[in-house]
Amino acid sequence: MRTHVVDHPLIAHKLTTLRDEGTDTPTFRRLADELVTLLAYEATREVRVSAVDITTPVAPTTGVKLASPKPLVVPILRAGLGMLDGMMRLLPTAEVGFLGMVRNEETLEASTYAERLPDDLSGRQCYVLDPMLATGGTLAAAIDFLVARGADDITAICLLAAPEGCARLERDLAGVDVPVTIVTAAMDEKLNDKGYIVPGLGDAGDRLYGSAGSA
Ligand code: URA
Repeated sequence: MRTHVVDHPLIAHKLTTLRDEGTDTPTFRRLADELVTLLAYEATREVRVSAVDITTPVAPTTGVKLASPKPLVVPILRAGLGMLDGMMRLLPTAEVGFLGMVRNEETLEASTYAERLPDDLSGRQCYVLDPMLATGGTLAAAIDFLVARGADDITAICLLAAPEGCARLERDLAGVDVPVTIVTAAMDEKLNDKGYIVPGLGDAGDRLYGSAGSA
């Protein structure tokens, strides 16, 4: 597994306002959207392309286009939905599949409650959207799910990550021979005893959508 913390002053600037408890929901949503687009630029560095011949107004030339099958973007419900538009801005022709996962707040383990994904992901590059890599349980379960369906390259985009979650992913994915990359705006200090990232930004789903959809 490769972890890429994107070090850029604009990302740090937007992330600081995102973290601030005084930031209201509309501003939080807009910043999350902008941050994902910036992270997506780094996350798609290895997106597969194929050669294409075109003619400019001046001369024939060869360029590239996204290869087939098109990449698959997988937001993890619910908070990952707040990252979808920011991702699709860069990859408008990608397909989207959905994975609903919920974390048991006592055991901190994740389980799947919904999925809308192709049965066969052979040869697909998958981009998983999950704002908070905290314990790593949700992301490990999502990656297992995609690998079991044949995905052969997985990149997870997370607004924030915790060292404990990255360590768990390293352990859980030790036997997985599909390349996995984590792209994040920051590696925070630690988790607290409720599994929240410190300093973090609180509950990403609640900050995006309010507490009506919390379990
Ligand atoms: N999920 C969140 O929304 N926030 C955290 O800090 C950890 C998990």
